[in-house]
Amino acid sequence: MKLKIAILPGDGIGPEITQQSVKVLKAVADRFDHQFEFEEALVGAAAIDLLENPLPDATLELCEKSDAVLFGAIGDPKYDNNPEAKVRPEQGLLKLRKELGLFANIRPVKAFDKLIDQSPLRPERIQGADMVIYRELTGGIYFGDKSTAEDGQSATDVCTYSVEEIERMAHLAFKAAQQRSKKLTLVDKANVLETSRLWRKTVTALAEKYPDVKLDFLYVDNAAMQMILDPKQFDVILTENMFGDILSDEASVIGGSIGLLASASVGDKNALFEPIHGSYPQAAHKGIANPLASVLSAAMLLDHFDLTEEAEAIRHAVEVSIQLNVCTQDINKDNHYSTEKVGDFLESLISEVDNININ
Ligand code: IPM
Ligand code: MN
Repeated sequence: MKLKIAILPGDGIGPEITQQSVKVLKAVADRFDHQFEFEEALVGAAAIDLLENPLPDATLELCEKSDAVLFGAIGDPKYDNNPEAKVRPEQGLLKLRKELGLFANIRPVKAFDKLIDQSPLRPERIQGADMVIYRELTGGIYFGDKSTAEDGQSATDVCTYSVEEIERMAHLAFKAAQQRSKKLTLVDKANVLETSRLWRKTVTALAEKYPDVKLDFLYVDNAAMQMILDPKQFDVILTENMFGDILSDEASVIGGSIGLLASASVGDKNALFEPIHGSYPQAAHKGIANPLASVLSAAMLLDHFDLTEEAEAIRHAVEVSIQLNVCTQDINKDNHYSTEKVGDFLESLISEVDNININ
């Protein structure tokens, strides 16, 4: 298969982790006889520094004409504590999601057996946890009108959802549930928010089309607690933009490291793949960043094009590296490997995948 993949490394640890994924994807292309073409572009603080624009036109054009985007991370401390900043790196990612119409963000969360003790949660609570969060990505409070009063004494963020936005998202989540354990949990705050009541009404009506899926509802505050108390109860979680952002960081505690969580953002035309973690600037250039979330995002990219065996080859390599402790320090305190070493190891596993047997 021929694929053109736009590479947007971004800020902080973004470039070093993305580099490992490109390496891994090249190994997949070689092994399975595909032609993957990679082209890099600027985004985030890196783009502001050079062009004063977190999403330069050339970057957007490249993404539009590519089959998929592999995204690193975004954010820079010099903007974090500066409420006066007019342009922020994050705007680059938000605009990219909006312009590409990437309305659904899919975040799988799984406890790796080998890493069960890495999590601060009790092993018996998380062993076997396996869920996927369907986070709406181009609506809600992230994209509503924003303003600060002239006197600086008040500020507003508007949260809006349309039935259409909810339905297209819910269809995807119901379909995912049909392929999994047939349980869908809508997380909202319908006891307080009007938009949440619209989500509940719309999703309930749609459920008639998916009679094999069991639909239930949780308020987001309770969901945050249940995620820690009993994560195994969840199969597919469907939720709006901001709740999904918060819950997915929380869910990463189950896997033992946020450095393991991958995501796919999809729309009708384009698709983007990125780790859920941020740019982790304190770790940049130290070779300590975990590349696995990015590498697993690359596996989701392959899944998106039905390259299932190829995606499995990546996931298998990741399993092996975890089994053999060829991991960065976030999940291997004693004898850790650098970002690049982990990437090299995955690359070599994929190149000779037939020769490896972990059992
Ligand atoms: C994420 C990130 C982004 C978000 C930021 C960087 C804008 O936290 O992808 O989860 O809030 O969506
Ligand atoms: Mn987030």
